Amino acid sequence: MEHNIRIELVDEANRKPIPRDSASLGFGRHFTDHMFLMNYSTEKGWHDPRIQPHQPLCLDPAATVLHYGQQVFEGLKAYRAEGGGINLFRYQKNFERMNRSCKRLQIPALDVEKAIAGLKELIRIDQDWIPTDEGCALYVRPTVIGIDPFLGVRPSSTYLFYILLGPVGAYYPEGFNPISIYVSDNYVRAVAGGTGEAKTGGNYAASLVAQKEAQDAGCSQVLWLDARERKYVEEVGTMNIMFRINDELITSPLTGSILPGVTRDSVLQLAKEWGVHVSERLLSIDEVVEAAKDGSLKEIFGCGTAAIIAPVKQFVYQGETYQVADGGTGELSARLYKTILDIQYGRTAGPEGWVERIDM
Ligand code: COI
Repeated sequence: MEHNIRIELVDEANRKPIPRDSASLGFGRHFTDHMFLMNYSTEKGWHDPRIQPHQPLCLDPAATVLHYGQQVFEGLKAYRAEGGGINLFRYQKNFERMNRSCKRLQIPALDVEKAIAGLKELIRIDQDWIPTDEGCALYVRPTVIGIDPFLGVRPSSTYLFYILLGPVGAYYPEGFNPISIYVSDNYVRAVAGGTGEAKTGGNYAASLVAQKEAQDAGCSQVLWLDARERKYVEEVGTMNIMFRINDELITSPLTGSILPGVTRDSVLQLAKEWGVHVSERLLSIDEVVEAAKDGSLKEIFGCGTAAIIAPVKQFVYQGETYQVADGGTGELSARLYKTILDIQYGRTAGPEGWVERIDM
């Protein structure tokens, strides 16, 4: 389908230098030369798809997003594929989730076909930015914001959708090494019926105070407990979380307060294929503490697009630090990390439909 994307390119002479040192890429610091945008209005629907230089947005200071946070976003990655071309990993799931988030935030459904056409064209234009080193990729950040200049509390009638691209390496300062997490029983992230299962900026803004507590305790992430009883493990700051106790791989069910992660779904699918005993069930922090004490806690790892698989070496709960097994990367974490990257880079065939190669 023809989408008539207007394209305005940055002159060759004004292009930014592409960072080539993958060890210092980090996450979310570098952006490519271009971005994709389109607008929504009640009369025209999603219209005016365009690619233009990455530049500041011009918004009215009364814009809805700036006051009441009417915003949703996604995170996915493009990989330099083995043998040429570029691989996109399960991106349709990100756009499906984006539309569920839109519904929760009273944002009109995105025209997914237009957005995907824009995404592919944008990646083609900025393809030189895709890093080559293991664990590195081009991060894709689709975002929708409400832009009506109006201070009453109601859904905006106009929106801006945009996609940013940027080369990324490891999300955490630890690189791909095991991290420490801090169990918060002071603050909660979300409650069923709230916005916890939507990917919206406000969830992350509300997490910052606990993130500070985690950092003060020497940890890189918060492990959230359920809001009602402050008993069951739910999710980590930027990832879903999994526990291996003896031979059972356990993660929180999608209770309405946690983000339905694409990597979470991929891990569950792979682990089931490998014959691992997988349980989506409530798991209390007390059970995790007991397992750490009696040696049956074999692994904890986070999983998410940005972090991929992040093994956890220890967790801090109510002033006590508990080490996870020998504090190294667990066997299942290592296998999942390798397998997921192999699939993403096209070195191994994954399950049907997980990877789409776009030819450049
Ligand atoms: C992702 O994994 O893509 C995320 O969206 C996490 C992000 C908040 C850093």
